[in-house]
Amino acid sequence: MCTNKKTGIIGLGAYLPEKVLTNKDLEKMVDTTDEWITTRTGIKERRIARQDEVTSDMATEAANRALKDAGLTAADIDLIIVATITPDMFFPATACLVQEKIGARTVPAFDVSVACSGFIYGLAIANQFISSGTYKHALVIAAEKLSAITDWTDRNTCVLFGDGAAAAVLGPVEKGGILSVYLGANGKEGDLIKLPAGGSRIPATRKSIESNLHFIKMNGAELFKHAVKIMADAALEATRPLGLQADDISLVIPHQANVRILNAVAKRMGLTKDKIYLNIEKYGNMSAASSAVALVEAVKEGRIKKGQKILLDAFGGGLTWGAIVIEW
Ligand code: ACO
Repeated sequence: MCTNKKTGIIGLGAYLPEKVLTNKDLEKMVDTTDEWITTRTGIKERRIARQDEVTSDMATEAANRALKDAGLTAADIDLIIVATITPDMFFPATACLVQEKIGARTVPAFDVSVACSGFIYGLAIANQFISSGTYKHALVIAAEKLSAITDWTDRNTCVLFGDGAAAAVLGPVEKGGILSVYLGANGKEGDLIKLPAGGSRIPATRKSIESNLHFIKMNGAELFKHAVKIMADAALEATRPLGLQADDISLVIPHQANVRILNAVAKRMGLTKDKIYLNIEKYGNMSAASSAVALVEAVKEGRIKKGQKILLDAFGGGLTWGAIVIEW
């Protein structure tokens, strides 16, 4: 069946854990300062999930809020996608755990593992199913408990990451919706950010644990350079087919990795800084959840008005990237 319907976001919800970890708190944990973190990254604080609060719990809370916002129930959902690099476990997929927790029908449910680009990949996949008429309503959830894979003794990484979740309900719309999608990946640069152990290459052993291989390893300076170019290029690739200029975009909702990256992206795109939505100071980098939470907050704050065109733009481990233009 091919009906070519337009796909829109018809409900949104976010969940952030209660516990706030400030830069001042981090000063007591590693050799760092509030001043260094603020000026180098833009981050002031981040949220940390409770030990007993796992990715599927945060995803479920965000999903229930998005369903309520859409005026739908779990029974209306035909597809569940969870974007995460911190699933509850390798399998079952976190999406299956969420399906059970929200009380959805036995609809397809799977995870997408493309790090910070996950929310955009999830939206792109759901868009295909809805616009083709295969499914009516999809839940795309981005949820991360990065605190579980962060080395809290490594100042190079532990100041950057946080936990959180957000969800979008997608469905057919008469007007607007997703106008264009651009996705990409480059496995050659996969070593720049990775979780080395725990998979089939380095299964968990006493040695892998003692060697700290179950935590994020990152080459920050190299990633920084790639991020600026890739995010600016992805924005261009998503807007060009629509004949849009940077000025036609009312707001860019980017992955929140570093405020300096986003300022450089704005400059490359010829945009003023106020056109780039920022909430990194409150949450740090939540991988897939970053752009999703940013979208929820931008809408809640009234930064996105009906009829406006917005751009979601992300870059992450893999490397992976994606950009989507949505008419609200
Ligand atoms: N506190 C104080 N000093 C620090 C800290 C810290 N927390 N971390 C690093 N430093 C030091 C370094 O040791 C280094 O010291 P040295 O010069 O004596 O060797 C100095 O600060 C500068 O280090 P750089 O790595 O050059 O700092 P830079 O300005 O590049 O900032 C940062 C580092 C913030 C990591 C930056 O490179 C960045 O944001 N990169 C992009 C990261 C990213 O996008 N990651 C995620 C993408 S994928 C995903 O999200 C899953």
